[in-house]
Amino acid sequence: MTADPAAAPLAVIVLAAGQGTRMKSDTHKVLHPIAGKAMLLHLLDTVTDLSPAREIVVVGKGREQVEAAVASRGVVSALQAEQLGTAHAVGAAVPALGDFDGNVLILFGDTPFVAADTLRAMLARLGASDVPGIVVLTHSPAESGAYGRVILGDGDRIATMVEYKDASDAERAVRLCNSGMMTLTAADLRNWLPRIGNDNAAGEYYLPDLVMVAAQDGRASVAVEGAPVEAIGINSRAELAAAERLWQDRQRAEMMAAGVTLIDPASVFFAADTQIARDVTIEPNVVFGPGVTIAEGTTIRAFSHIEGATIGANCEVGPYARLRPGAVLEETAKVGNFVEIKQARLGRGAKANHLAYLGDADVGAGANVGAGTITCNYDGFFKYRTVIGDGAFIGSNSALVAPVTIGAGAIIGAGSVVTKDVEADALGVTRSEQQSLPGWAARFRARQKARKGAK
Ligand code: UD1
Ligand code: CA
Repeated sequence: MTADPAAAPLAVIVLAAGQGTRMKSDTHKVLHPIAGKAMLLHLLDTVTDLSPAREIVVVGKGREQVEAAVASRGVVSALQAEQLGTAHAVGAAVPALGDFDGNVLILFGDTPFVAADTLRAMLARLGASDVPGIVVLTHSPAESGAYGRVILGDGDRIATMVEYKDASDAERAVRLCNSGMMTLTAADLRNWLPRIGNDNAAGEYYLPDLVMVAAQDGRASVAVEGAPVEAIGINSRAELAAAERLWQDRQRAEMMAAGVTLIDPASVFFAADTQIARDVTIEPNVVFGPGVTIAEGTTIRAFSHIEGATIGANCEVGPYARLRPGAVLEETAKVGNFVEIKQARLGRGAKANHLAYLGDADVGAGANVGAGTITCNYDGFFKYRTVIGDGAFIGSNSALVAPVTIGAGAIIGAGSVVTKDVEADALGVTRSEQQSLPGWAARFRARQKARKGAK
């Protein structure tokens, strides 16, 4: 073992074999999303920050789902065929450790909010000169509920740990709770884990019992206390919603601290990867899906839904805009109410201010797309592109039947159905010619009135 814990290699074991029955879901519990991202991936992204040498996820029922979700991440899965408790689950991961020699960090897939700095603090404590056997992450929530309790001895030393089911009233009155997360060396884990029994209220192999086994070997365990939010476990839809609220609140605060104006923070919902530059203003009731980047000075007006969009500086979007994946707005572009954009670029200063659908399109700088314009991009089988040149003007209620190109500076007459390319600076107009019949309306009314009166 190296003395410096930061230098010692790290293996992370994430327990995710539990059934998650309280979710009442066909989706594995740890794959339920928070801010559009599976809770397990929130946790694994935090873990990545620690550059572990190995990551092992313990899976059981629904393992295919979990394995598919982590397939691209170099995570090893270990099967716990029967769920006999948290210590038993860690045991299922031990073979995957192979001859790994270093520190092991044990985390829970349903407890996704632990901070990387807290995990670092645990590892640092493990490497301190008094050489504790185990470092347990504790927390003191407002409501201790059914969490396991941690009874301290001197200083940060743990005298004992007890599951709620097994605890006396005096022990239940203790506020310090077990987060479930702990760290110890691989050698100690291999030595102590097989000595845990299941003689307890649940008949399960409890991971916290490691602390008592270590004590039998004369090794002390210590507590590192984290913030209660770091230890929030998600077991039901209500807890999932509470976790979402917490995440969103934190993100809103971070966005504002970074210089984003939120007029009504509580009504703006971010995705885990939303990136917004300073001096962007977000009006109330805006929802972000994954994959959104917004540059400085842009305003997102009320009731807009935005996902997979790259928005340049000083743009104006909404109210009531819908930007779908592949939407690209270059600087100062404007997208107004009831406009939907998908796989389409709006060049610098281009405008689609009202009631339009732009799909699979490229709109040049300074072009103006009139109200009611539709790119007809789909024939029921394939998608086709529409190209609108710089400075072109598309009259209201035009249907641009793709594939079609409107040249730079061209004007399309309102109400046209455009099926052929229009050259630069030309007028393209396809509607039938207007006729005017003087006096026709007056004669028509007189005739109809007479007919009605005659009845
Ligand atoms: C556990 C702790 C408790 C702690 C609480 C914090 C134990 C015995 N109890 O209780 O002290 O306060 O977490 O949230 O450790 N799992 C498996 N295989 C199993 C059992 C569980 O993989 O056989 C996984 C679950 O998927 C879950 C995690 O381990 O991710 C925790 O299991 P759970 O049953 O939720 O434990 P708690 O009762 O919450
Ligand atoms: Ca739990």
